Amino acid sequence: MAMIAPSILSADGSRLGEEIAAVTAAGGDWIHVDVMDGHFVPNLTLGPGLVGALRKTTALPFDVHLMIEAPERFIDAFAEAGADWLTVHVEAAAHLHRVVGMIRERGLKAGVSLNPATPLALVEPILSEIDLLLVMTVNPGFGGQTFIEGSLARIRQAREMIDRIAPSVLLEVDGGVTLQNVRAVADAGADVLVAGSAIFGGGDYGKTIGTMKSLLAAPPTFRV
Ligand code: DX5
Ligand code: ZN
Repeated sequence: MAMIAPSILSADGSRLGEEIAAVTAAGGDWIHVDVMDGHFVPNLTLGPGLVGALRKTTALPFDVHLMIEAPERFIDAFAEAGADWLTVHVEAAAHLHRVVGMIRERGLKAGVSLNPATPLALVEPILSEIDLLLVMTVNPGFGGQTFIEGSLARIRQAREMIDRIAPSVLLEVDGGVTLQNVRAVADAGADVLVAGSAIFGGGDYGKTIGTMKSLLAAPPTFRV
């Protein structure tokens, strides 16, 4: 069954530690941490110092999504901060093999992400050298945006490419995942579902994540 990675971008920033503990207790599988530099995306979030401080608040894996230019400058800092999965954008790294190599040499799992308008073929040459492919289903920068139409077909294509070239690579989907589309996104082939506003925007995190998991676990429905 697909895993759920609550994105703390939509959490209450004045109580981040408590929010992480709450989604941990509520059944989240990974903690998704969005790092933005104000250049690659038009927003700024947090850096390695805060990630390191938050690391103590949960035993769940930290899934760090770097939306920053020249990410090679910060691999060491996020490795020291305790990231478990470290994902860079194909559009932001001039020498992708080198960055992926740096991440893996430090004992972390390496992810590569694509913006919605970037051809999937760009990651084909590196697929067998990474651990995770992150397909963006909104333009990165903000929580609470709408899932881009046509993304289900793109997720299916990414799944097919992974199965053909490197079946052990996990397929993660980020942006606009809600209770309404979570099952369709998983059925299209996603292994990890990031959800920010759908979880933190609702009152009861346990109820939301529980509902997501029951939707994912339900048997397929057949229509005649
Ligand atoms: C967007 C971030 C996402 C964001 C998703 O740039 O990468 O992780 O938190 O938020 P929702 O689930 O609200 O679309
Ligand atoms: Zn993200």
